[in-house]
Amino acid sequence: MQNDGSHPFVIDRLTDSPGVLRCEGHRGSAPNVRFRASLPTGRVPALSQSFPGEGGPGADMSLETIARLAGVSRSTVSRVVNDDPRVRPAVRERVRAVISDQDYHPNAAARSLASRKTRIIGLLIPGAVSFVFSDPYFPTLIQGITDACNAADLHVMLMMDPSDDPATIDRLYRRVIRGRHIDGLVIGTSMIDDPLVARMRDDRFPTVVIGRRPDEPMLSSVDIDNREAARLTVEHLIDHGHRRIGLIGGPRVVIAAQNRFDGYHDALAAAGIVADPDLVLDSDFTQSGGSAAMRHLLGAPGGPPSAVFVASDTMAAGAFTTLAEAGARVPDDIALVGFDGLERHLQTHPTLSTLAQPITGLARAAVEMLRRRIDAPEAPPVHHLLPTFLWRRGSCGCSGPAPPGSVWHPTGTVIAADVQGDPRSHAEKGGEPVHDHPALVAPV
Ligand code: ADE
Repeated sequence: MQNDGSHPFVIDRLTDSPGVLRCEGHRGSAPNVRFRASLPTGRVPALSQSFPGEGGPGADMSLETIARLAGVSRSTVSRVVNDDPRVRPAVRERVRAVISDQDYHPNAAARSLASRKTRIIGLLIPGAVSFVFSDPYFPTLIQGITDACNAADLHVMLMMDPSDDPATIDRLYRRVIRGRHIDGLVIGTSMIDDPLVARMRDDRFPTVVIGRRPDEPMLSSVDIDNREAARLTVEHLIDHGHRRIGLIGGPRVVIAAQNRFDGYHDALAAAGIVADPDLVLDSDFTQSGGSAAMRHLLGAPGGPPSAVFVASDTMAAGAFTTLAEAGARVPDDIALVGFDGLERHLQTHPTLSTLAQPITGLARAAVEMLRRRIDAPEAPPVHHLLPTFLWRRGSCGCSGPAPPGSVWHPTGTVIAADVQGDPRSHAEKGGEPVHDHPALVAPV
């Protein structure tokens, strides 16, 4: 029976016995016009191709058809599809040309079975990060991870563990990680006491953590030197002549927030300034949190600070709002410096001075490191620190962009693979900064 594509056939019944495929059906536009066909299994692709009205080009193509058209065996096509190096370059090219001509897309499930890889990586946003939708750090990170995966022909499974319930976390772990739904995992931010981290390490599951975990040297990590970057930022406020400097910090379950808190104290201590506990507040990386914290600082018992280090730009935007409502001028009454370098998204007057971290660079580096881990799971863990950038603008008392050449954070170095699994940075161990690492990208 011929099918010209304008009257697609509908298959009602398909029976598969060894070597023969039997099918029965009717014409789509005429249910009374029935057909029955019996085909040797080897001709199934030809049957599919004779139904042009169904699916797009290549939708029903099979490995066998590609093999026949390329004049190679099915297993050679399978090897090419799975990037197996055991195929001669000329043959690989020929098979790829046929694949491209026929617009063939390998069946993902079959491909996974053959390669034991899903080409999916997980991005875990730990459950306690309830502010994920109100902190632009995360959309920026997710975008960076997605772009890097798209470029590498990988897919991202976003895993947001919504609960603090250990049973839910356990189920997620067993189903997705043990069930190998993904080839590897990026943990989007480092949390103190994250229950999944130790399990990844024990299972030797390919994992890269964004954020440092000196307590877990066996898990690869990529980060900035948050403590040193915060110290440098507060030192800059001290250089402007401030001594009564407040801190609006992030939630200290996030290791980066704890590191920034420590860096703030380091800078004060180095200048011989005793921190006033009334000026040190933990907030939540949100704009409303930043506004509320600034209200507290304005009412501090010993009077408001003359400058505030705000541990994220989003909170700094909130602090700006409170100051405007209170009629306080920035930087004359209170100077501000943020952190993250997201200020492009935030319109503040004057412009926000900020310690920029390369969020997209962290994302790209994490994906690249994870790909290497997946390919060589037994290789020693690596730890990278990316450089940061202090934008000195209006809100700290400087004006205009920072002078060129003076802005890369001197200890924000990219470190080489560390065979000892030592998560200290290259600079912390006394090494020279390395500025030409491929993971090094301009700040976002
Ligand atoms: N900046 C804002 N939120 C952050 C987070 N969760 N981790 C690191 N830096 C951030």
